[in-house]
Amino acid sequence: MRILVTSALPYANGDIHLGHLAGAYLPADVYVRYQRLKRRDVIYICGTDEHGVPVTISAEKQGKAPREIVDRYYKSISKSFSDFGMTFDNFSRTSLPVHHRLAQDFFSRIYEKGFIYPKEIEQFYCDECKRFLPDRYIVGKCPKCGNDGARGDQCEACGHWLEPFELIDPRCGICGKTPRKTRTKHWYFKLSEFQDKLNAWISSRKDWKETVLSFVHGWLREGLQDRPITRDLAWGVPVPLDEARGKVLYVWFDAPIGYISSTIEWSQKQGKPDRWKDYWLDKNTRLVHFIGKDNIVFHALIWPAMLMAYGDYVLPADIPANQFLNLEGGKFSTSKDYAIWLPDYLKDFKADSLRYALTRNAPEARDTDFTWRDFQVWHNNELADILGNFVNRTITFVKKYYGSAVPEASSFSERDNRILDMLKNAPATVGSRIEKFEFKNGLQEVMKIAQEGNRYFDYEEPWSTRKKDPAACAKTINVCMRIVTALSALVDPFLPFTAKRMKEMIQITPEGWDDIAQAKYAGEVGETSILFNKIGDDVIRMQVDRLKKEMIDLDYFSRVSLKSAKILAAERVEGSKSLIKCQVEVGDQKKQIVAGIGKDYKPEDLLGKTIVIVDNLQPAKIRGVLSEGMLLAAVDDKGVVVVTTDKMVSSGIQIR
Ligand code: MF3
Ligand code: ZN
Repeated sequence: MRILVTSALPYANGDIHLGHLAGAYLPADVYVRYQRLKRRDVIYICGTDEHGVPVTISAEKQGKAPREIVDRYYKSISKSFSDFGMTFDNFSRTSLPVHHRLAQDFFSRIYEKGFIYPKEIEQFYCDECKRFLPDRYIVGKCPKCGNDGARGDQCEACGHWLEPFELIDPRCGICGKTPRKTRTKHWYFKLSEFQDKLNAWISSRKDWKETVLSFVHGWLREGLQDRPITRDLAWGVPVPLDEARGKVLYVWFDAPIGYISSTIEWSQKQGKPDRWKDYWLDKNTRLVHFIGKDNIVFHALIWPAMLMAYGDYVLPADIPANQFLNLEGGKFSTSKDYAIWLPDYLKDFKADSLRYALTRNAPEARDTDFTWRDFQVWHNNELADILGNFVNRTITFVKKYYGSAVPEASSFSERDNRILDMLKNAPATVGSRIEKFEFKNGLQEVMKIAQEGNRYFDYEEPWSTRKKDPAACAKTINVCMRIVTALSALVDPFLPFTAKRMKEMIQITPEGWDDIAQAKYAGEVGETSILFNKIGDDVIRMQVDRLKKEMIDLDYFSRVSLKSAKILAAERVEGSKSLIKCQVEVGDQKKQIVAGIGKDYKPEDLLGKTIVIVDNLQPAKIRGVLSEGMLLAAVDDKGVVVVTTDKMVSSGIQIR
């Protein structure tokens, strides 16, 4: 059996963040590493998705050509993936000629078979920008919730999916002008014609994840609609039809074909240009697509329909989609820069610590939340204190008391045999979890073994049997080394960098997954070092602070009304050392403001100053005293400095 594993092709319009990793990438890499250790015929295919509106929007925002954007992010994504330990057999790009050719061939063949037809439709056109506006390029008011920043495909505020014509007061997302409706021609894929075939196919997919199946059944119940697969854009794969000049394939039509073109590129690089056919054209290939839940409909319905329409190719055997990872209680957001970016993470921490945290907390069945605090606790209390500690204390013992030579065992007790049995069963136990895409459970099984190791070590007390009963001590250490050896293989798919270091330390290693049980520990141990250094509170606090600096847009900022104000009178709030109550003039208004500046200012110093206040702050009582605004001040551990204007201005002036 051959296994062909893919991860969703990431858009080459930005870096990878932790949400991406947890969804489509890390679990696939664990799966593939495991399959390789099982010596199965597996290849892992991916690449960047370089077309589509996400790329052109990023290009426009940064004032660059799409080509520059995709070149830049192809490089940076490839680099951080590889630093994270991702082991793709090929990481391609959809802008390559091999992909353009294949995508066009796909279109042409499906077209010739009658599954694609043209249709005139209405679309927004911006006269100012002289271009058709794709859905995402139109903004307006959401008809559901009234949010005025909704895009033509979705309102991010309420999650409602919509058509651009539903937007109230639609505007061009580039220049802000009102676009006009006009007619244009697009080519549609007859998805509706595959309803029955897809129904039958999906009904036979009993072992898929519950979350994926229920989603797909929902779509099937609603009835499948034909979908436009061309776009009026200047960036993408040109539609291979004379009458479609200037149009490109819709990015979701070309991107999944990238799985095939990347496999073709892989074959070519190997000098065996037909090798890809062994995978894609053989019905026995197990094709597994790792994705996040937002990609389910494309992979479980539209892409299989495309494959059915084309003919010949294998269909996906499984689509283990994950739910979402959130971040400190909020959603990852690229546009708000609310994310932890992989290149940033890797500057400060090790890949394996993150691989551990993301697997331990994998959003396999429901959304989960990443917090830096959990990350720290899991690293310190589990990786360092359980796994690292067990490996370290065992190997250190061998070095110190046995001159680095692992001692032999003469006889085993019942307790020892229980441990040895556990090791014998471990490959199957952990393996079956991985094969069922239960990575979280698999990892837990591995950590249980390290934990058992520590318990065993504590119970056996080799430090005291060493003198009293040398044979018992030798046996204990012998068993512990077997555990270390087994762990060096069992952690490999999850924590490859750690596995490598462990194998170097023990200088012997089981070569494949199933050799773990038989692994001999004989030899000598080599150089050792601490596997995981603890992560301190200060480091974590810095990361949390970095996240809190949320970016806001002008619109958001303009909701805060800042005004100049003149202090007319000031006195201390009775019974408080720090609070001063000021009467201020804001234009023709008078207000009372209570401020915590009493340790640094005397009331009389404040008189006549022109300060800056937040004018529209909800009035509140501070120590029972009404405060109708807030004055701005610079605050640090040296004290408080009130913000005043550079030159005299009248009060009540808007500050921006
Ligand atoms: N680029 C898409 C995303 O990030 C995923 C494309 S997957 C593919 O959501 F199958 F189309 F390649
Ligand atoms: Zn415009």
